[in-house]
Formats: sequence, C-alpha cells, structure tokens
Amino acid sequence: MMRNKLLIGTNLKMYKGVSDTCQYLESLKALTADIVDQVSIFVIPSYVALDQASKLLQSQAIMLGAQNMHHEQAGQYTGEISPVMLKELGIKVVEIGHSERRQIFNETDEEENAKILSALSHGLTPLLCVGETTQQKSFGIVDEVLSTQLKIGLHGVSELSSNQLWVAYEPVWAIGVNGTPAEPNYVKERHAFIRSILNRFFPNIDIPILYGGSVNQENAIDFITLPNVDGLFIGRSAWEAEKFDQLIRKTLPIWQEKEKNDAEVR
Ligand code: PGA
Repeated sequence: MMRNKLLIGTNLKMYKGVSDTCQYLESLKALTADIVDQVSIFVIPSYVALDQASKLLQSQAIMLGAQNMHHEQAGQYTGEISPVMLKELGIKVVEIGHSERRQIFNETDEEENAKILSALSHGLTPLLCVGETTQQKSFGIVDEVLSTQLKIGLHGVSELSSNQLWVAYEPVWAIGVNGTPAEPNYVKERHAFIRSILNRFFPNIDIPILYGGSVNQENAIDFITLPNVDGLFIGRSAWEAEKFDQLIRKTLPIWQEKEKNDAEVR
C-alpha cells in the first residue's frame, strides 16, 4: 500500500526531563533538517517536557506525542492528564497501551479502548501498541492475543480517516534492556496478521503498522524491508539525537526503495 513517508519515532519513557528533552530535540531538529520533509519523525517525551518541547518545535516537522492519557476530559482523577490538556499544548499523537502500561500499571484492553475512542473524538492520533508476552508466546496464543488487543482496543471505532490511527506491534519479550530482538520472519508474519485484522475493520483505510522492540542500527534495515512494516518505534537506540539521526538516514533510502518497488507492482 502506498505511503508517503517513512514513519519513525521514539518513546523517551521516564528518562529525559525538560532540559534534556529540549536539548535532544534541538539537536535532532538540526541534524535532520535536510531530510525532515522526506520522513515523518515523532518523539514522545515525558508529560512535564511537552509544553516546552511543543514551543521549541512549533511548526517544525517533528511531531510530538504523549505517553498516555486519561479517557475523560476532566474530573476527579488525581494524577491523570486529559486529552483536552494535551490538545492545549498542541500535541498530535498519543501512545495508548504501551506494554509497560499494560504490564506494570495493569491497564486492560477495555481501558485502552476507552482511551482510543476519547483520543479520536478529540482529534488526537492514537498510537495503539499491541504485543504478546513470553508466556503467551509459549502457550502458542500469539495471534489470539493480538486479535483480542485489536478487537477490544478498536471496538466502536468508526469513520476513521487516513492517518488518524497508528498501530505498533511490540512483542513484550523484545522490549528493553532485557529484550531479545525478534526474528524478521516472525515480525513479517505478525504484521501480516495485524494487517489482515485492520483490513477487515477498516477496508478503505491504510493504517500504518510500526514495529518496535530492541530496534537498533544493526537490525533496523531487516525490519523496514518487510512487507506491512510501515515504520519503526524505537526506545534506547534513539535516545541520543546523533544515533537516532543515523538510524533514520540508514533506513530512509531502503524504505524509499521498498515504496518504489511496491508502486511498480501496483
Ligand atoms: P526498546 O523500547 O527499543 O528500548 O526495546 C521499545 C519500546 O518500548 O517501545
């Protein structure tokens, strides 16, 4: 399917505060200035850095996202952040259901669904993260897990238009310092499966599916060449602006080649 640009981004998790985030974004902006019109870059910093980051980037091509949100727009929810608050800061993207939210904070598919519906109704682009745990993999229920996460997570979503929803496949066992990078063939099969579900739900909409989980300079190309991998969602390997820029430069021509070949086939 035709995509205009490679979608590539990073979640900074609970790492950089305001000044580190701004320094990082300043560098990334400068480093990627000559390619930024060919690629869709997004960065998802901590809540506290969003305001400054948003001012710093202004109309720049790097998009900003939030790591989570509450589904209500206001209320007695101490410690939570609402979609209205994110919009006020000019945030476009919101990550929903990252495996750390699901595993550590016990978020359920039903909660992710409420957040997805709320984000869409507020004009935010949800980035729904799905992926199986080691245990689910060993039970042989990977497709069942992915299908459940997608079916419940996207329940009630209708009238979607292009670029209003992104999905990231991130196997839990592949994420973070203790993660094992997935085999490209495994990723290929999972992405094809996710694509089949999304096509059934939204036959006329082309939803980008990103791959994430220990993506690095060495393996990024193996993933980006796969069919149905429309972008990369990166943690550790993107947290230094120089390294992230290098990773983007390495993958961009390969991805453009893939796009060109796909277009010729069509
Ligand atoms: P990682 O993180 O690249 O450091 O494995 C990925 C993620 O958590 O999205």
